[in-house]
Amino acid sequence: MTNRENFGSKLGAVLAAAGSAVGLGNIWRFPIETGRNGGAAFIIVYILCILLIGLPVMLSEFMIGRHTQANTARAYQKLAPNTQWKWVGRLGVFSAFFIMCYYCVVAGWTIEYAMLAITNQFAGKTANDFPKIFNEFAANPWMPIIWLIAFVVMTHFVIVKGVTKGIERWSKILMPLLFGLVVLLVVCAVTSPGAKEGIEFMLKPDFSKITGKTVLSAMGQAFYSLSLGMGCLCTYASYFDKKTSLGKTALQVASIDTMIALMAGFIIFPAASTAGYHLAPEDVGASLLFITLPNVFQQAFSSLPILGYIFSVMFYLLVILAALTSMISLHEVVTSYMSEEFKWTRKRAAITETIVCILLGCICSLSFGVLNDVRLFDMTIFDLFDWTSSNIFLPIGGMFISLFAGWYLDKQIFRDEITNYGLSSAPYFKALIFLLRYIVPLAIIAIIVNQLGIVSLL
Ligand code: PHE
Repeated sequence: MTNRENFGSKLGAVLAAAGSAVGLGNIWRFPIETGRNGGAAFIIVYILCILLIGLPVMLSEFMIGRHTQANTARAYQKLAPNTQWKWVGRLGVFSAFFIMCYYCVVAGWTIEYAMLAITNQFAGKTANDFPKIFNEFAANPWMPIIWLIAFVVMTHFVIVKGVTKGIERWSKILMPLLFGLVVLLVVCAVTSPGAKEGIEFMLKPDFSKITGKTVLSAMGQAFYSLSLGMGCLCTYASYFDKKTSLGKTALQVASIDTMIALMAGFIIFPAASTAGYHLAPEDVGASLLFITLPNVFQQAFSSLPILGYIFSVMFYLLVILAALTSMISLHEVVTSYMSEEFKWTRKRAAITETIVCILLGCICSLSFGVLNDVRLFDMTIFDLFDWTSSNIFLPIGGMFISLFAGWYLDKQIFRDEITNYGLSSAPYFKALIFLLRYIVPLAIIAIIVNQLGIVSLL
């Protein structure tokens, strides 16, 4: 484990971790969940979930990674030698790999849509055209695959460059760019003439909308959005230097992630109300990004098409950037595992990972077309990858991480890491351990039980 690289600066570390967190989960999944669960009321519950569940798990992952300076599988072996805890780390590597295989499919679609936007193909289309455009594209055996390969290869080149010159450098370029684009889009969306209804949807909570299901969706979303439960943040934290404050970094990453998610809401809902949409649950389904939104942009700026053009181009570029930095973090989990455990060079590990991911990604992609009839548990292959990873692997991973940090691990190690060996104080430590011991595991069990439909809580 010699010659391990570190992030060169604190800013680099924060931006890399934020890059992992900010992704399709913020721009695509968050507005969907907000739309489905009643707007502002959901947002309040979501923020509470970030604070009470997300932050403690993130801190645990940071602590485990930084303390062990190893890939996520090795980290648990180091902290708990000769125990079964090693499976938590291995599950993380497996989850990262699993998520990559379908994440690259959706990421590939965003390149196609950026291309359509750039070449002005949305112009003059009506609401009826967009489902057709999307369905024909997704079912086409070639184009989605070409884009997914392009996407994985882009990720590959960043990873091969290494931690400082690859991940850190690109995070420092891509994240500010992403932030700038989001701000521009928010300004555009909230100042458009019919934005009021969309803004109110984001700001006026209707507490009668909060049900058990809202809470569970908010927890699931918090997990997914912060990249928790699968070793991404643990792996990144293994590149933090000894001076990085874990508490501060966690707070910064969670704030950036939540801010971008909220801003995505302030782009999508005002744009939708301007276009005369009252986003109904069926409009904010999985197709939001590729069917509903192109039409929304088209209608919202129908009096000034050039604005619609600029808006859509910026929007899809933004989604590509966000997906890319998340994909990089997923790739890194598997690459660092293979290179350190199998004693392979980084390049060899990355190439192996890239090839296998492309192959499985192709299968996921084809499940929208020729492989659509292949079903397991009544799901297509893509749905199976998506559903099991976000609803099963991540929560299970998160639960074991909280149990590990809350119950198994020596409290002194945790405290030392969080206070940088006494250099700073951590007055919240007791509360943190309480959350990790009781609240987080129970909350996660509720999510899993509900997802599996074993007991209908609601
Ligand atoms: N957090 C990422 C997003 O919001 C998704 C992700 C999950 C990335 C888990 C890495 C690990 O899109």
